[in-house]
Amino acid sequence: MNDTENGVFPEIQEVIISQDQILEKVRQIGGQIATDYQYKNPLFIGVLKGVLFFMADLMRSVPYSCEVDFLAISNYNTDARKKGMVRLVKDLDIPINGRDVVFVEDVIDTGLTLNYILKNLRDRSPASLEVCVLFNKPAHRLIEIPIKYKGFDLPDRFVVGYGLDHHEKYRNLPYVGLLKGDAIHLPHFSGD
Ligand code: IMP
Ligand code: MG
Repeated sequence: MNDTENGVFPEIQEVIISQDQILEKVRQIGGQIATDYQYKNPLFIGVLKGVLFFMADLMRSVPYSCEVDFLAISNYNTDARKKGMVRLVKDLDIPINGRDVVFVEDVIDTGLTLNYILKNLRDRSPASLEVCVLFNKPAHRLIEIPIKYKGFDLPDRFVVGYGLDHHEKYRNLPYVGLLKGDAIHLPHFSGD
């Protein structure tokens, strides 16, 4: 498929990261993780739903035993959201104490949500906890997050695809793109 001839998704104005670029990067990150965690049976943790696509490709680039689990969250009202507070809608199934955990995230923007979740995970005493993010948006960062594995730095634009949604749509695009017109200026509060 030609990324630039996007007749199926006419709302996409421009592809900014192609499917090939994404998959190449994911394989690179998977290779680094594979080297760092050999024999450790790492546990990958992600927040539904945006991370599904990255998680699936990342795990398949790790050529030995590893496990995966997911959290689901929902945001509170705007005030609580500003503090990064989230409500756990689904907790982990696997206990993480003593485990080598890699927290996998599709996109980090302000960092507030992730900061809150990381604190929650640290309280459960994992043996180690590192952060792996595919799309980093440094422009709005309010809290510094230590990122061990990073894919792409993104400009300060609202993007969709490869898991990132706009009102739940476009997650299935195999690339990352900009939406046409005003859609990119709409606030996005789905939290995941
Ligand atoms: P934050 O890092 O706490 O600000 O939260 C980031 C969350 O906002 C992500 O998990 C996404 O759900 C959402 N988000 C941020 N930027 C984008 C974007 O460009 N496209 C789609 N969702 C985004
Ligand atoms: Mg997310």
